[in-house]
Amino acid sequence: MEYRFQASAPAAQLEADCMVVGIYKDRDAALSRAAAQLDQASAGGLGAHLALGDFNARKHETQLLYGLTGIKARRVLLVGLGERAKLTSEVLAQASRTAARQLKSANIRHAVSFLSDESGSEHRAEAVRQAIRAVAEALYSFNAYKSGEAENDRTALAQWDIAHTEAGDLSAAIQQGQAIAAGCHLARDLGNLPGNVCTPAYLAETASGLVNEHAGMMQVEILEESDMEALGMGAFMSVSKGSSQPGKLVSIHYNGGRQGDAPVVLVGKGITFDTGGISIKPGLKMDEMKYDMSGAGSVLGTMKAIAAMRLPLNVIGMLAAAENMPSGHASKPGDIVTTLSGKTVEILNTDAEGRLVLCDALTYAERYSPAAVVDIATLTGAVIVALGNHISGLMSNDEALAKALQAAGQIAGDETWRLPLGEKYQEQLKSNFADMANIGGPSAGTITAGCFLARFAENFPWAHLDVAGVAWDGGSNKGSTARPVPLLTQFLMARAGIAA
Ligand code: BES
Ligand code: MN
Ligand code: ZN
Repeated sequence: MEYRFQASAPAAQLEADCMVVGIYKDRDAALSRAAAQLDQASAGGLGAHLALGDFNARKHETQLLYGLTGIKARRVLLVGLGERAKLTSEVLAQASRTAARQLKSANIRHAVSFLSDESGSEHRAEAVRQAIRAVAEALYSFNAYKSGEAENDRTALAQWDIAHTEAGDLSAAIQQGQAIAAGCHLARDLGNLPGNVCTPAYLAETASGLVNEHAGMMQVEILEESDMEALGMGAFMSVSKGSSQPGKLVSIHYNGGRQGDAPVVLVGKGITFDTGGISIKPGLKMDEMKYDMSGAGSVLGTMKAIAAMRLPLNVIGMLAAAENMPSGHASKPGDIVTTLSGKTVEILNTDAEGRLVLCDALTYAERYSPAAVVDIATLTGAVIVALGNHISGLMSNDEALAKALQAAGQIAGDETWRLPLGEKYQEQLKSNFADMANIGGPSAGTITAGCFLARFAENFPWAHLDVAGVAWDGGSNKGSTARPVPLLTQFLMARAGIAA
């Protein structure tokens, strides 16, 4: 898919198979700026059509118009934006998604969209990035394992121009949007791949492949199980040893900043399948536990995006990759292990495995003298009870870092909600036999998981994103959402001083 930018051309003069313009529900102010231009060029033709009352401009509503006189485009797709006063960036992105789906199913080749033109000018660049993300998402499909479907996958829609009625150079935003979309595509593919394909070794190979594309700016470092054993990563190994798939701790170094500048470290939970281990999960929906590597997938996607953007920042992306299986080598409830930090953990439930691989990764991250560490994990079912599938849980030991992540989520439409940490919750992790237990009982499960990780992040600014609810769509669109790649890329862009 190619994206172009056409500034300030009158809508009526643009050549296209289809022009995409927004329409509002407001009776006396229905026309978006581009729609008004089309109405004028067609001598009131568009307004006359709307006056028929067939199109109500509800959100998600679309209508294809043919034969509008006085304009160059062969078709016009009207997209409902709802009420003008209630327009949000979310509504606009959704409109782009809906439009792309429509044009794809109509086999239309070349679209010129004015939808992001409706955002306020101070939010224009972000609206462009979100429009590109939305179009890419609408055209995404995952049919690699359906015989004969590859053919059907090829969409006629080959070019999407982003057009605006106002002049201004948005080519940087287009390039950024494409980079983020490509990162989302990678994260989505990884989340959708089955556990028998997307193994820890597969994640490591994907990391190496990405690094090879950016030789000179990136390096990869892979710890094998023997290395982790030797280092004393007893918590990571307690999970990994139950599987015949060898675990890997992968660090991707991106050096876009000045040499010596402290890096931001992203640590992703990469459980390529979570059976629960000996504390085995029930069968219903267990297939979905292939997405338990989505934290690692989002780290890979984010690294891909920032490398394509050449962000002036040093970032290390770590993938804590292992499979959680029951076997004769697996950990048992009551087992006690020693973490890389030296602290001991009593494993009361082998299904609380994410924190076990992450705690050793967090301790390992300390050797990079990080400016900040953010871990991303599908860590608890409890976060879905608390926040549903809309918002990620955010916990942090640092106010500024928490605020920066919250702000990035707001801007990118990939929201977080902060939950507390603290002594009262820490007490729930008390063990009679070790320094701590790996579970904190039935109440506040997301927070006690965060509290567990906090004990391994005492020496640097740290934040934890529990993305169990947002990384996967369990509905009719079952599959990976690529979240929180948009949040992480926005967070890093802001840190690199690239204006929102
Ligand atoms: N990967 C799961 C969390 C999860 C659950 C992600 C549902 C997505 C959807 C995690 O490893 C897990 O099993 N957590 C347990 C923790 C419990 C044993 C304290 C959970 O949430 O039940
Ligand atoms: Mn688990
Ligand atoms: Zn898990």
